[in-house]
Amino acid sequence: MKWITLSAPLVLALAVSGQAAAADNAKASTGAVTTSVFGTLPDGRQARLYRFSNAHGIEMAVTDYGGIIVSLRTPDSSGDVDDIVLGFDSLEGYLSDAYRKSNPYFGALIGRYGNRIAGGQFTLDGQTYNLAKNNGPNHLHGGNKGFNQVLWNAKPFSNDKGAGVILKYVSADGEEGYPGKLDVTVTYTLGDQDTLSVEYNATTTKATPVNLTQHSYFNLEGEGSGSILDHRLMINADAFTPVDDTLIPTGEIRSVEGTPFDFRQATAIGKRIDEDNTQLEYGPGYDHNFVLNRPDGSKGELVQAARVTEPDSGRILEIATTEPGIQFYSGNFLDGTLTGKSGRAYGHRTGFALETQHFPDSPNQDGFPSTILEPGDTYHSRTVYTFSAR
Ligand code: BGC
Repeated sequence: MKWITLSAPLVLALAVSGQAAAADNAKASTGAVTTSVFGTLPDGRQARLYRFSNAHGIEMAVTDYGGIIVSLRTPDSSGDVDDIVLGFDSLEGYLSDAYRKSNPYFGALIGRYGNRIAGGQFTLDGQTYNLAKNNGPNHLHGGNKGFNQVLWNAKPFSNDKGAGVILKYVSADGEEGYPGKLDVTVTYTLGDQDTLSVEYNATTTKATPVNLTQHSYFNLEGEGSGSILDHRLMINADAFTPVDDTLIPTGEIRSVEGTPFDFRQATAIGKRIDEDNTQLEYGPGYDHNFVLNRPDGSKGELVQAARVTEPDSGRILEIATTEPGIQFYSGNFLDGTLTGKSGRAYGHRTGFALETQHFPDSPNQDGFPSTILEPGDTYHSRTVYTFSAR
């Protein structure tokens, strides 16, 4: 692997305080990755933007603030390129009061625990830990300041597998109430096979729950182009985990057979979303973890998780993962109060997320695969997104 360092003039521009304007214009291009300043955080630190592309015209931009995928541009069936993820073109968008209030986690890395922990509490080795209740009575996506809001240490790279960025973050012992110092590394690699690989590794000094994921919202017609209800979705899952009215799993693993949760054959997202169904009422819409089908003995290996096609653009998104579950969230809480990169408001269900993960609330659910990372062990997870058009 070839490490790429920032050019000397950029480092200098970033280091000299009071020269924000100079830094704003500074760009370093080394190999296949271009680095620029994305904005300044309230504490004065600068966030950077890393841009890279592949041989077939796929272009991606990632910031070290929250590890956010800021844009992802892919060709449609006629070769026209659009940005297919929701987000903002400046750091301010992600820091605004309106954004923080609705907190959609656009494009961000999620941790230390993706999705909800019931009552913001879990017990581990006889000790009870209290976490922020930042989602009604529950803890969501790592708490008040999850990994989506921290500045990661970033290193762009380019090698024979593609180009991308390696992000590192050290979460202190006790941060957001979690035990153990957690060392996290996430690697984004955009490859010439039109794949984006997201690889997660972590180690800890004390036993702790860990469940990392990526929270991009996709609209395969292009962000800001309207509803996602016509997208056809396939999820490779015979079962899902039903929830209570605060979106905490009941513990049941329920068959999708004969329910609006059966996506084993590609089905329009909107086809059954308004059916009279208690689980859809709780969503409201789809906001559920699916239990991925996995051949015996394939634990930790990549399996197909989901495939989404958009009829007008012909774009296809495929997702494979080493994780046991995937959260399908149909953008139910988007309400038009945020305006994205294209200058258009993000209304109800104009983006969807497919978050590869362990199941929500696993620290309180004995029947779910464990999310506890022990000292001496390494957390490892990988998800591969493949982009095409037909
Ligand atoms: C959750 C939703 C939540 C969304 C944004 C998803 O992962 O399942 O309930 O609204 O993230 O916070």
